[in-house]
Amino acid sequence: MCGIVGILGNGPVASQVVDSLKRLEYRGYDSAGIATLEGGHLTRRRAEGKLRNLQARLAEEPLQGHIGIGHTRWATHGRPSEYNAHPHATDRVAVVHNGIIENFRSLREELMGQGVNFQSDTDTEVVAHLVTREMRRGLAPRDAVAAALKCLHGAFALGFIFEGEENLLIGARRGAPLAIGYGEGEMYLGSDALALAPFTDTIAYLEDGDWVVMTRTGATFYDENDREVVRQRQKTQAGAFLVDKGNHRHFMAKEIHEQPEVIGRTLAHYLDMSAGKVSLPFDLPFDFKAIRKLSISACGTAFLAGLTAKYWFERLARLPVEIDVASEFRYREMPLDAGDLTMVISQSGETADTLASLRYAKDCGQKILSVVNVPTSTIARESDVVALTLAGPEIGVASTKAFTCQLSVLAALAIAAGVARGTISAEQEQALVSELMHVPGLVAEALKHEHDIEGIAKELSKAKDVLYLGRGTSYPLALEGALKLKEISYIHAEGYAAGELKHGPIALIEETLPVIVIAPRDHWFEKTVSNVQEVAARGGQLLMIGPAGIAHEAGIHNAQSIVMPDMAPTFSAIVYSAPIQLLAYYTAMVMGKDVDQPRNLAKSVTVE
Ligand code: AGP
Repeated sequence: MCGIVGILGNGPVASQVVDSLKRLEYRGYDSAGIATLEGGHLTRRRAEGKLRNLQARLAEEPLQGHIGIGHTRWATHGRPSEYNAHPHATDRVAVVHNGIIENFRSLREELMGQGVNFQSDTDTEVVAHLVTREMRRGLAPRDAVAAALKCLHGAFALGFIFEGEENLLIGARRGAPLAIGYGEGEMYLGSDALALAPFTDTIAYLEDGDWVVMTRTGATFYDENDREVVRQRQKTQAGAFLVDKGNHRHFMAKEIHEQPEVIGRTLAHYLDMSAGKVSLPFDLPFDFKAIRKLSISACGTAFLAGLTAKYWFERLARLPVEIDVASEFRYREMPLDAGDLTMVISQSGETADTLASLRYAKDCGQKILSVVNVPTSTIARESDVVALTLAGPEIGVASTKAFTCQLSVLAALAIAAGVARGTISAEQEQALVSELMHVPGLVAEALKHEHDIEGIAKELSKAKDVLYLGRGTSYPLALEGALKLKEISYIHAEGYAAGELKHGPIALIEETLPVIVIAPRDHWFEKTVSNVQEVAARGGQLLMIGPAGIAHEAGIHNAQSIVMPDMAPTFSAIVYSAPIQLLAYYTAMVMGKDVDQPRNLAKSVTVE
């Protein structure tokens, strides 16, 4: 995750840009940079490492421009260095970027074939060359950006300034947050309200797919189809900057929408996206080849992340997995062999049952790998190795972005285990890493169905009981969907393995019982469709979450559908979490429940 900022000022902006970048350093600090127009010419100052190194550069070689963009980097493509530092520029445009351009490799090859010489290893630089190519074809800057955006796949936020254009700043948002600020004859662009706080309390957020053209007198917003749209200005509360809801009603909604960005950041921590390989950010104190059995223990949603990972470790690494909820794991006195591996998963890193499981496994001589969101937590401190989720603070009691970041880490670990155990070839590794790289953009796509889901939730809110069904990795997701719904809407819900339906639960089917079927086009798709037909034949009220046309394929004519983007099947659980979360969120909101702090719950259960 990186921080970006832009300023259209009435005086030299370099020091203001640096002030704003200071507020964004929590997003990353591998390098920093700034670009301004000096006498109408694009001029940059960049430095590796912390912001203070850029400040030192500016002290030696100051910039006087009245327009500028700045960036603090958390490296995804290309190692931290000055030549990989943003802004990236050509002779026509400078750009700063947060997120991942998934198709950068093919774009880079295309541009190199057209004679472009790249100066960095980053995905970002392709954006500068795409915009330049359009401008050389005669397009004005704003039309060149609009054309270039259509070539990009992935989840990102961008800021642009142009050679000779003293009164033009352009921003674009797809999957990663971006806001603009209104000043007195000045305008601002930033990754969040925090970045804009030094300049203004009047801001507007870009919606997903938006791009914005700014001059000193105002801003014009366009949607992904280049139609002019209106985005409301709002006042930001001064004190809430550190943890604010952005333009969302609840923290849970904000955290659901942060997922494209934080999943991208987490994946970038575990993958070498340029090489298409897994690249763990730590040495393992064990050899996956020598592990005979992997034990996994966690609670609640974290347990369901582990249950999903069981499928991945067993299928990709051929590694047997035993998993149990921590409250059972610690009392079963499961025989654990010394030298084998126990994995504990916990957002808070403080859950008492999970910590007790860790200690039990450690007493049995197991190596402990923990997947946590809080690096300073007790579980992290007592582990042999810590795999961090980079979800950022999760305030909503119902876990959302932590869950999908846990899945992202576990997916990378399963691939690493397969490579180490020789069950995954180099080609298969590249293909699996490519699938993971597409996940942030697919989650952003899935989140676009938010308003359809809100409509469905209005119906669901009338239900007394709800059944979720899924096969394979969609089975833990069915359990997670049921958990999300019951813990924030208080509607009783149950998740079931779709194949188990006929062994009892099918007796429940009647038209007042909503049945939600999670059906990505994966190895189990045809079997899931036949389970759907069993429900339909008994008058069940079906909601199908899957690829376009799935209801028609199943011959079901009265089912509701949430259409999901086409995707490779292996890691569909990460993407299909989005509609599951939104369905629970909107159902609870329609019912007027306390979404962020549901009754009887706590964010971290530090007692047995
Ligand atoms: C998640 O929506 C729940 N609030 C809860 O099940 C949670 O996942 C569980 O308590 C585990 O918490 P942890 O991840 O912090 O260990």
